[in-house]
Amino acid sequence: MSTSPFQPVVPVAPEGWTPGVGPDPVLGAPRRLIGSPVSRLDGRAKVLGEARFAAEYVFDGMVYAALRYATIARGRITALDTRTAEAAAGVVLVMTYRNAPRINPAPSFLTGPKSFGWSSLPIMQDDSIHWNGEPVAVVLAATQEQADHAASLIEVTYASSAPRRFVDAKAHPRKPDHVLFRPTSVTVGDAEAALAEAAHSVDLVYRTPRQSHNAIEPHAVTMAWIDGDLVVHDSSQAVKPHAWTLAQVFGIDEDQVHVSSPYVGGGFGGKTVWSHHVLAAAAAKLAGRPVRLALSREGVYRLVGGRTNTEQRVAIGADRDGRFTALIHTGISAITPYNVLAEPFTLPARIMYSTETLKADQRVSDVDMVANSFMRAPGEAVGTFALESAIDELAAELGMDPIELRIRNEPERDPGTGLPYSSRQLVAAWRAGAERFGWERRKPPGEHPDGEWLIGLGCASATYPHQRFPGAGARITLDDSGHATVQVAANDMGMGTATTQTIIAAERLGLPLDQVTVAYGDSSFPGTFQAGASAQTVTIAAAVVTAQRELVAQLLKLAGDDSPLSGLTADEVGCRDSGLCELADPSRWESYTRILERAGCDEVSALASAAEPDEMKAHSMHSFGAVFCEVRVNEVTGETRVDRVVGSYDCGRILNPKTAASQLRGGIIMGIGLALMEETVFDERTARIMNASLADYHVPVHLDVPRIEVMWTDIPDPLAPAGARGVGEIGITGVGAAIANAVCHATGRRVRDLPITVDKLL
Ligand code: MOS
Repeated sequence: MSTSPFQPVVPVAPEGWTPGVGPDPVLGAPRRLIGSPVSRLDGRAKVLGEARFAAEYVFDGMVYAALRYATIARGRITALDTRTAEAAAGVVLVMTYRNAPRINPAPSFLTGPKSFGWSSLPIMQDDSIHWNGEPVAVVLAATQEQADHAASLIEVTYASSAPRRFVDAKAHPRKPDHVLFRPTSVTVGDAEAALAEAAHSVDLVYRTPRQSHNAIEPHAVTMAWIDGDLVVHDSSQAVKPHAWTLAQVFGIDEDQVHVSSPYVGGGFGGKTVWSHHVLAAAAAKLAGRPVRLALSREGVYRLVGGRTNTEQRVAIGADRDGRFTALIHTGISAITPYNVLAEPFTLPARIMYSTETLKADQRVSDVDMVANSFMRAPGEAVGTFALESAIDELAAELGMDPIELRIRNEPERDPGTGLPYSSRQLVAAWRAGAERFGWERRKPPGEHPDGEWLIGLGCASATYPHQRFPGAGARITLDDSGHATVQVAANDMGMGTATTQTIIAAERLGLPLDQVTVAYGDSSFPGTFQAGASAQTVTIAAAVVTAQRELVAQLLKLAGDDSPLSGLTADEVGCRDSGLCELADPSRWESYTRILERAGCDEVSALASAAEPDEMKAHSMHSFGAVFCEVRVNEVTGETRVDRVVGSYDCGRILNPKTAASQLRGGIIMGIGLALMEETVFDERTARIMNASLADYHVPVHLDVPRIEVMWTDIPDPLAPAGARGVGEIGITGVGAAIANAVCHATGRRVRDLPITVDKLL
């Protein structure tokens, strides 16, 4: 199952293990396409430059937009002179709060099933300023250059008051309503008392910085009002929620907004509704012209919120054998008063380890900044840094191997809720990963010098929740040539959604891959989806499976009494070799083309909605993993290089090993950035982001990325559609701690403040 000769992918299913038969009948069936590596079907169009992105669409009469950003964080606009800009060459409109159409705020994300905006603030409706970088004017002009120039000519004066800062806000934090829909606090027993009495303990504080979104494609929209409807070419990870959210802003029906976004150059949680959507639509309305608004890289930093900063306490008490008697994970994160995402960093501690007592609790502090939002594995990415660093520190205190310490505290049930896991094969992942990595060759700390380089090995657990969202639907249309088209309002940000769903649909329909087309990225298609929370693959799969069952029922009706399948009920019939067959006796078969021909039909179509995701109510469902890395730290310069990473995962069944391996590797690379480089530098005095460019905000480049091996248990989750749990976000989790632990192993220096930069090691 290698995806390339030098990066083998090794299945590690325990010997003798057989898949259970769950709600998805395909689980127990032999595989045909599922599990075979398929290259991304959109790859060719992208490589050839044929794939059109949001900022590459053109409408007749279209004008270009430029934004002017506030340079204070809190206060009012006292003077705004737009006359020079209005008189500049090519300018069609200058829009400010004075002439902007009256519109509603975008409903904030997490406040409704289809709300996909990140801030409930009104946008350009009055003279108030809420964050440093808030747009204060939109200029529309005949060319982008004319718009940019005119925006620079606007004169703005402010009355500014001191921004609310994290350092001050920490003194009076507030309790968030929820932590990503989980309770704000979880308490099992008296963890503080147990900690005080523990034979061994650690009690530590870890800090993680703000991080900004840097998808390769900056956010962009090209849009037009046509007969009262809003047509949007977008870069979106949720086309239907984008349409719904924009409809609320303009007070029109959801189906009057048409969002199309077939190609997206990365999302990571950032390709949601932000103020550029609203401003472009409002300006287009005011000017009566189609508008393109493509954010500059700086614009993304100003308008699009990323991961917020956290300060986390992890305390663990253990008995003499290393069994946890207390596990405490608490802390605080920055938030804005107008969004609802408390960075959910305590989630891993609630589900990962067996412990006699448990306390998880989060607080938030209001800060004047762009609304913080989702960024790849929100919560877990930074929560596992703190938790898994603390476990390494406890292992040192106990003189135990850190892997053995984790395995010793492997839980039978979810310690926070008491629910059984749907499937948890983390120990198998640890054992297989340790063998692959060569963990037993790890020497005591400081015994790995290589000239001026100090070598260190580290490891950490990875985890991310399994989720499936309600509202999924799909339409399958089968034509008389035996070609199926699946329509879903789903999203592919480049991770291979369409490819993997083509595999699933082809498997279910008994068709070759090239006889299936998955159409997606359009809000007019069935279902509500978001490419988020690593949940989209199974959410779509559940809808596709339901639509396939509906299609079988319709085909069976069309087949009639002259078919070899006559007399069978839909439950007795499945698909194989481009036709229907009896499940009990697959030799009783008839082709799709024959069925349609006899019935005189050009095509047959089935539209279905997936069942509610009830499987998550009675089970704790999560993906798990074990991350290993080897680093080198230069004694003279403090430079850290990551030489090798092995990620061993338990994510249920792997549907497409090629795209799954890419997702996991991509996550690990982002984890290297989180550990060593990424930091949004925020001037606390002005609340301004000071490194709003890729020259100043560092992310890993090719030379920073070592050989990365990924492997998986490939053990289907009996409760997940197609047996699969998410692979999108777990890759980044655990990496920060694995690297910090390796750096400590190499140098004896424990860094509890990300990123681990040179200054912290000298
Ligand atoms: Mo993800 S951070 O839910 O796109």
